[in-house]
Amino acid sequence: MLTTNKLDPIAVDAQHVLQVYRRAPVVFESGTGCALFTGAGERYLDLLSGIGVASLGHGHPGLAHALAEQAQTLLHTSNLYYHPLQSDVASKLASLSGLPRAFFCNSGAEAVEACLKFSRRFWHATGTPRTEFVAFDHAFHGRTMGALSVTWDDHYRAPFAPLVPGVTFVDAANPSALDAVVTDRTAAIIVEPIQGEGGVRPISKATADAITAACRRTGALLIADEVQCGCGRTGRAFYSGAVGLQPDLMALGKALGAGVPIGAALFSDRVAAAAKPGDHGTTYGGNLLACRAALVFLEELTSNGLMDHVAKIGAYLEHGLRQLASRQPAIRDVRGAGVIWGLDLDRPAAAIVDAALQRKLLINRTSDTVVRLLPPYVITEREIDEALPLLEAAIAAGVAATN
Ligand SMILES: Cc1ncc(COP(=O)(O)O)c(C=O)c1O
Repeated sequence: MLTTNKLDPIAVDAQHVLQVYRRAPVVFESGTGCALFTGAGERYLDLLSGIGVASLGHGHPGLAHALAEQAQTLLHTSNLYYHPLQSDVASKLASLSGLPRAFFCNSGAEAVEACLKFSRRFWHATGTPRTEFVAFDHAFHGRTMGALSVTWDDHYRAPFAPLVPGVTFVDAANPSALDAVVTDRTAAIIVEPIQGEGGVRPISKATADAITAACRRTGALLIADEVQCGCGRTGRAFYSGAVGLQPDLMALGKALGAGVPIGAALFSDRVAAAAKPGDHGTTYGGNLLACRAALVFLEELTSNGLMDHVAKIGAYLEHGLRQLASRQPAIRDVRGAGVIWGLDLDRPAAAIVDAALQRKLLINRTSDTVVRLLPPYVITEREIDEALPLLEAAIAAGVAATN
C-alpha cells in the first residue's frame, strides 16, 4: 500500500518543490473518463487532459490493465538491448506518418531537441555543414536549451540567455518574409502546424506553401513539431498533412503515451542515414512501460475508431463553440480543429479560467487572451453538452469581472 505524507500537499509544495508553476489550489486523487475527483469526492470536468496528455481520458481500463501487466513483466532494460515493444511503436508511427525511423525519448522538448540535433547532423554529414534554424513568431517548442532557442516568447528566453545562436523568427502571417530569411545556411525550418502555447493558431495554407517553397529553393529541412497538435488530435494523424507540408523530421509527445511520459522524433530515410551509433541517446527513452502505453493508445486511435471519433466529436465541439461565440461578443475568434480549440478574447483570459475552475470545469489560458481546450479524445457529446454552458457562464463571469 502506498504511504504518502498526510500533510497538506499545497503547504509542502510551497516549502519543498521548485516554485516554477502557478498551480490552481486543488488536489486531484482519481479520475475516470473526462472527470477528475478530489479526495473529498468533488467532481471536475476535465477539458484540458493534463495539457493534452490524457488522450484516453483518466482511468482507462485497457491502459490500466496493460500497464499493470507490463509492470509485472518487465519495465526497463535500457537502450543497450532490444525489446519488441519499441520496434512495434516505431513501425506503427512509420505507417501513420510516412517517416520511417523513430528515436524515442521522454518528452516533447526532447523530441524537438533530437530534431534540431539531427538536422545539423544531416548537414554535417554532407560535408557542407549548416547550423541555422528558422522558427516562427509565437512558437513554443519546449524548455531545454535547444528547444528554448527556437521558442519565441522572450519571457521564457531572457533569463537563460545566451541561447543557441543562429535562430531567426518570422511572422507566420507574412509568408513572403521567408524569402529573405531562409538561405543556404538554414539547416531547418521548424513549425508547429497548429501553434499551441502561442494561442492555438493553425498555420495558413499560404504559409505552408511558402515553407515548402523555401525548403525547395534552399534545400533546408523541415521539422514539424506535432507535439501538441499531432497523434490524431485534429481527427487526422498529423496536422502537417492537412496543410500539405511534407516534413523531413517530426517531434511527437503528449497524447502518445496517454499519460505515461514518452516522446518521439521521426526521421526521413535521408536524415536518418546520417545517424551513427553514439550520436544521441537517453537512458529511459522508449522503455517497455512507455512503449506499452503508446501501443495501447495507437491501437485505440487506428484500430478501435478513436481517430474517427475525434473527427466527429471535434465537429460537434466546434459547432457548440461557434454558437457560444456568436452570443459572447468578447470572443474575437474561434480557432482549432478536432479536440484542440482556442477562444481568443478581447481581454486577458485569466479571469475566465478562474471562473471556470469555480464551476468545476478545467480549461487554461495561452498567449494571454486565449482560452484553450484540449479535452481527452474520448470526450462524448453528453460531456460537451455539460461543459459548454459551464464555459459560457465562466466567460460571462470573467468578462463581467474585467469590464
Ligand atoms: C508544440 C510543442 N512542442 C514542444 C513542447 C514541449 O513538450 P514537453 O513539455 O513535453 O517538453 C510543447 C509543450 O507544450 C508543445 O506544445
